Amino acid sequence: MGGPPTTSLHYQSVIADAVTGTGPGDAHGAPAAEPAAVAEGFFDLANADVVRYAVGGDDELVVEQDQSLHDSCGGIVWESAFCLAQLLQRDGGKRVRGKRVIELGAGAGLLGMSAAKLGAESVVLTDHPSAMPLLRRNVERNFPNDTAVSNEKTRVSCLPLDWLDDAHLSAVATCAQGPFDVALAADVVFAKHLVTPLLRCVAATMSGARDPRRATAYVCLQERCADAFDEFKRVGRTVCATFTELEKDDVAFVDDACFVFELRGFSSERASESGKKRKKRRKETKRKKEKKEKKEKKEKEPWTDAHERAATGVGVSSKRARVG
Ligand SMILES: C[S@@+](CC[C@H](N)C(=O)[O-])C[C@H]1O[C@@H](n2cnc3c(N)ncnc32)[C@H](O)[C@@H]1O
Repeated sequence: MGGPPTTSLHYQSVIADAVTGTGPGDAHGAPAAEPAAVAEGFFDLANADVVRYAVGGDDELVVEQDQSLHDSCGGIVWESAFCLAQLLQRDGGKRVRGKRVIELGAGAGLLGMSAAKLGAESVVLTDHPSAMPLLRRNVERNFPNDTAVSNEKTRVSCLPLDWLDDAHLSAVATCAQGPFDVALAADVVFAKHLVTPLLRCVAATMSGARDPRRATAYVCLQERCADAFDEFKRVGRTVCATFTELEKDDVAFVDDACFVFELRGFSSERASESGKKRKKRRKETKRKKEKKEKKEKKEKEPWTDAHERAATGVGVSSKRARVG
């Protein structure tokens, strides 16, 4: 006698069924999506016991879900995780191939495990301790050989990282699989007070990257809470040098409610500075920018007597008089 029947759904089949071949489609030639059918498809996927996800050619991930994990909401695979996993699959997985990858708020683990299947050098999947048992089970099930050896040189591993816990952050930032080249995070912005701690963790784990100019964080979000979403865009611009929202056509995902952000140029000092210090730094940057613009404007002005006086320290007439 077995236990209760297990519902198992295949992501690609569910979404293919929800998409028509008749509409204008997207920039990549994908057929148009029927929004209501797509929403229903995601609803069915969220309620399945197991989600199967085709990745990297013939490979498939088997992801167990636990809908009872209400506290952490990390028990199911959310649309944003599918969206970013689909983006990673483009161009032969070049965004993660050969890279050391970390995922924050990994939940059931589909996104980070996709990166591993696409050829990442290593992947560390992190989440709040309450979400770890399911995450570990999924990683062990899909990577039995990579995880069996234990923590030191493990290619695919799990570590607890509560964004509010400095001891977790320092253990993750210094773990054997780092320093990290790529950070991934899906559907992690839902409460304003957690945005700065989250971005601080992203910056701290990325600031020691092997090639700092190329180190990239990909964050995919739905606008769950307007305040938190705005805060993410505001603080995001301060913790890195380049903060870009990818064009919808480039993301080309069946659900338009998912936004993908690409962050580059990290500084851990910036991420951990206080609000007061950040304000002071921004004021100073603004002052320097205005000074530079004023100087450039002045240089473009036609040469006048005032310039002559400023440049030589001598009045034009007296200079002329002396020369004459
Ligand atoms: C909406 S779920 C997204 C899960 C997964 N990334 C996905 O998209 O399928 C939000 C995730 O953030 C995690 N989370 C919430 N608060 C956290 C915190 N303080 N520290 C670390 N992770 C946290 C939850 O455990 C959960 O896995």
